[in-house]
Amino acid sequence: MQDMQTIIDKINTLKKERNAVILAHNYQRSEVQDIADFVGDSLGLSQQAVEQDVDVIVFCGVDFMAESAAILSPDKTVLIPEIDAGCPMAEMVSVESLKKVKKEHPNAVVVCYVNTSAAVKAECDICCTSANAVEVVNSLDDDEILFVPDKNLANYVAKHTDKTIIPWEGYCPTHHQILAGDVLLMKEEHPNAEFLAHPECRDDVLEIADYVFSTTGMTKYVGESDCKEFIIGTENGLLHKLELENPDKKFYPASEYAICPNMKMTTLAAVLNSLENMEHVVTVPENVRIKAKRALDRMLDIKLSK
Ligand code: 13P
Ligand code: SF4
Repeated sequence: MQDMQTIIDKINTLKKERNAVILAHNYQRSEVQDIADFVGDSLGLSQQAVEQDVDVIVFCGVDFMAESAAILSPDKTVLIPEIDAGCPMAEMVSVESLKKVKKEHPNAVVVCYVNTSAAVKAECDICCTSANAVEVVNSLDDDEILFVPDKNLANYVAKHTDKTIIPWEGYCPTHHQILAGDVLLMKEEHPNAEFLAHPECRDDVLEIADYVFSTTGMTKYVGESDCKEFIIGTENGLLHKLELENPDKKFYPASEYAICPNMKMTTLAAVLNSLENMEHVVTVPENVRIKAKRALDRMLDIKLSK
């Protein structure tokens, strides 16, 4: 068995040889975040995938994120170190089920969260992330929106728009581990802390949040705030970045159970294997890629107001 430093050294050498960049989502293991060139949210990482002048992208995240990179950067080789890292929420909508519901709402525009497969994106009009969902919906001329697959994000958006939102019945099992009762106990224990929640959280959790943000929104807010203590209502991997960037501030996870097993599958050994053996190459059939890219491009064309 190789020690951690040997693995890290090999990763860095191979990264140069392959002209590769390592992207890691905010929910990855701390040691994987530490060797990444960029750590960020779904939107930020897809943009990095396009901007980086490299041959290979090693995407430490779950499958839909690596697929988004492959859709946007077809000239690059996109690798996912852990082939089984999927997203249970993304799997709650299939092409067949979406086609059926679209028929029931022929006038609705379909907005899909990036947490969907490439094939589902290809059936949608425009994508969004948790960072821009409200802006994306409000940018549309249409009044009826079928929003897939996260019902919590859909309900959050519905509170910030005059449009009619038809939510899909999907949810993130990890964010559902965060319960309002536990948050209230944490608030009692840390009365000076602000509670920041991700819009994938349950409605009653969002109701008691001081602020609702994507992971990037949380990172920015914490960096700029004068507050010194925060209860963090999202997957607990984000605490690593928050603690590194804000050594003078304190962070408490809203729930010790908010851990995404799929995000934690990727180890340093898997990253090394990925670069050594160029595994696992993520490809999207060209007919699907072109249609899915349209939905992603429409999202990326919208200028964020914050
Ligand atoms: P972001 O807020 O970083 O986009 O991520 C949410 C999520 O659950 C990704 O799997
Ligand atoms: Fe999917 Fe939730 Fe895990 Fe993100 S945290 S990958 S939405 S299951």
